[in-house]
Amino acid sequence: GRRVTVRDLAAAKERGERWPMVTAYDAMTAGVFDQAGVPVLLVGDSAAMVVYGFDSTLPVTLDHLVPLTAAVVRGSSRAMVVADLPFGSYQGSAQQALESAARFMKEAGAHAVKLEGGRRVLPQVEALVSAGVPVMAHLGLTPQSVNALGGYRVQGRGQSGDELMADAKDLERAGAFAVVLECVPADLAQRVTTSLAIPTVGIGAGPATDAQVLVWQDLMGLTPRPAKFVKRYFDLASEMDRAVRAFAAEVSSGAFPAPEHTYS
Ligand code: KIV
Ligand code: NA
Repeated sequence: GRRVTVRDLAAAKERGERWPMVTAYDAMTAGVFDQAGVPVLLVGDSAAMVVYGFDSTLPVTLDHLVPLTAAVVRGSSRAMVVADLPFGSYQGSAQQALESAARFMKEAGAHAVKLEGGRRVLPQVEALVSAGVPVMAHLGLTPQSVNALGGYRVQGRGQSGDELMADAKDLERAGAFAVVLECVPADLAQRVTTSLAIPTVGIGAGPATDAQVLVWQDLMGLTPRPAKFVKRYFDLASEMDRAVRAFAAEVSSGAFPAPEHTYS
């Protein structure tokens, strides 16, 4: 079968169908989510934290993310793979955004890119869209601006909600195919969702958005202190702890390997 396209996502909004997006950073987890029918996989710059161990998304580079994106594309067959443009790879100019997106598409086979910001990145969005690169936008809590925002906190309360709405409309006009809304009040996310023809993808944005995204390590219960907006669908950290302790104990006792794991 073919990959999910931006047209499929637009059609889903017209039908009122909600869809999930999940992050992926390697071939095997991408394969599990793809086989489960997740239509969009995001190679997030959250890899900075969950893969590379940095304490924000700022240090991660294209050189870090391109190989992960290639692995996610190789490990999946149905999902659209969206690659997150990292901090410093697109803010400089439309030309820089094009060159960075081209690396994701040529070297990794990504199907779309994501970038953070509103009206300040419209030239980048327009250049990418005219070059044939589908663009997912990202508003609200934009972690690449954490130092300007003064921390990881709810965005778009009060008057700044009108700014966010204006940004969302301009991004849609510039040709973005979807907008992530991160950490914004549910009523604002609802108003943006009904005002736009393109799908909204919420994370900490309440139930009204057209789609929901979570970092897979958050939804599987691997991250130690997840945000309020995370629901844990599994307790992976405890299960892995239990399993590796059992392995260690059986190595110590000699119970592993048993005859059935052994060549004669
Ligand atoms: O980097 C990321 O994982 C993201 C999602 C949380 C939207 O940008
Ligand atoms: Na991101």
